[in-house]
Amino acid sequence: MTALLELRNVSAGYGAFRALFGVSVEVQPGEAVAILGANGVGKTTLARVATGLLAPTSGTVLVDGVDMSGTATYRFARAGVAHAPEGRSVFATLSVEDNLRLSFRQSKGRANTPAALAKAFELFPMLAARRHQIAGTLSGGQQRMLAMARVIIEEPKLLVADELSLGLAPIVVDEVYRSLRRLKESGSALLIVEQHVGHALALCDRAILLDRGTVSWSGPAREAAERVATHVFENDSGNDGDAAAAAG
Ligand SMILES: Nc1ncnc2c1ncn2[C@@H]1O[C@H](COP(=O)(O)OP(=O)(O)O)[C@@H](O)[C@H]1O
Ligand SMILES: [Mg+2]
Repeated sequence: MTALLELRNVSAGYGAFRALFGVSVEVQPGEAVAILGANGVGKTTLARVATGLLAPTSGTVLVDGVDMSGTATYRFARAGVAHAPEGRSVFATLSVEDNLRLSFRQSKGRANTPAALAKAFELFPMLAARRHQIAGTLSGGQQRMLAMARVIIEEPKLLVADELSLGLAPIVVDEVYRSLRRLKESGSALLIVEQHVGHALALCDRAILLDRGTVSWSGPAREAAERVATHVFENDSGNDGDAAAAAG
């Protein structure tokens, strides 16, 4: 089977600084893969390379077997690779519903907008309950969910999510992960970058451990949970419980 995404011996960095050294990663259609590792090991850099935001200095990035190395982000998007939005990419003065409507009209067309809206509210009950609220008055976590609902309705072949749970209250993290699970069940592949390993490993099939810009281990998520149970990452607030609990 052709991998949906393949990073083949990829190196990447910023100016003279190298953050990734010959990294190889594959994501199969429908598969969920977690990228784990301490602060600064290159997880975000890998996510950027995987979505075309950063061109590798050497190596190859293939989407559906097509060499995309060095091509623009919009080409990755067209090929079905989406980057989960960071921060607050919402229209602050519009309601939750109008934010979604506007976005779905562009991505899905006017005729398909009501169905897309219904699906977004089904995936994110919190947004349904707040459909008339002005988006600017939502909490940071709620705004992130609104931004995520727009991406998810596009039904990407692969969603690359970098630290989606960062700074969110545990209850919001749970809702974000529930929506990711539904996205996976509907057939999308996921590449999830997390320092909070519990949620990621509970959702993912496979895990890849990064250490200072190289892959130090990869294997089934369950085995990763055993490994990282004895391995404390920096900045892990422990919101999502320990990895052993997630695997059990
Ligand atoms: N824009 C940048 N310019 C220079 N160095 C960067 C930049 N972004 C990240 N780095 C460096 O690249 C390395 C990997 O960073 P990153 O991929 O963000 O790690 P992680 O997401 O695992 O915390 C770190 O040493 C970081 O300081
Ligand atoms: Mg990062």
